[in-house]
Amino acid sequence: MINKFFNVFSLNIFMKMGVFFVRKPVIAGNWKMFKTVSESLSFLDKIIPACKSLHKVEIIICPTFLSLAPMAEKAKDTNILLGAQNTHWEKEGAFTGEVSSYLISDLGINYAIIGHSERRGYFQETDEWVNNKIKAALNFNLNPIVCVGESLEERENGQTRKVVETQLAGGLNDIDLNQAGSIIFAYEPIWAIGTGRSATSSDAQEVISFIRRWLSESYNMETAQKVPILYGGSVKPDNIGSLLAEKDVDGVLIGGASLKEDSFIEMVQIANIS
Ligand code: PGA
Repeated sequence: MINKFFNVFSLNIFMKMGVFFVRKPVIAGNWKMFKTVSESLSFLDKIIPACKSLHKVEIIICPTFLSLAPMAEKAKDTNILLGAQNTHWEKEGAFTGEVSSYLISDLGINYAIIGHSERRGYFQETDEWVNNKIKAALNFNLNPIVCVGESLEERENGQTRKVVETQLAGGLNDIDLNQAGSIIFAYEPIWAIGTGRSATSSDAQEVISFIRRWLSESYNMETAQKVPILYGGSVKPDNIGSLLAEKDVDGVLIGGASLKEDSFIEMVQIANIS
């Protein structure tokens, strides 16, 4: 996927301006509440050698908080990067059960998923919370992976863009240009998550190009071209190729199919040559 965004025309313009971005495909596994620490480590034992020579793809795994520290130790000096699935925005404090960006960043972790629909739905996370979490993550040098997406009812009522736009505007409130450039976005329609019913690649492309346009209008063209925007929702080895072939789909956030070593490796291999 060499610089999928640019057709010949826009490529020329950008090269003339001296701005030329190549967005590396991102394969991010969201393990949710699965895998013990020893299962997590044995997964790494298998994928580290298999992914060692795959440098054209950014590989991120987001395990449970329990597995983060030992996995960070084992993945040190490899091309496997790690992310948390959630963060709290305060640095420290009396917040029983929470883990902050500050504490996570101490492990040398690079990413944090923020605003996943399961957090928004089951734990009533608001756009304001998402915004606080994004700011805290950026403050402690974690790159947020910010999830947005509509429910089935919202899609059927033609509200997809409105919902996504509201989540973006609320989540990115007071986030400046530089900060926005460090974010990965993920379009994750709720009706496609864990259901086996993926969005079609053209549905994904349509909403992701809308997100890129929104970023261009809210920040600038350069930021919009620089940031990776992923698709998530029932991604598997069977459909990843067609999703990544879309010009604005820069990678995928994968739940269920990221839990098995073989399917995860297969998807990383496909992304590496896309
Ligand atoms: P899924 O989950 O791949 O199991 O649909 C995706 C996600 O929740 O990020």
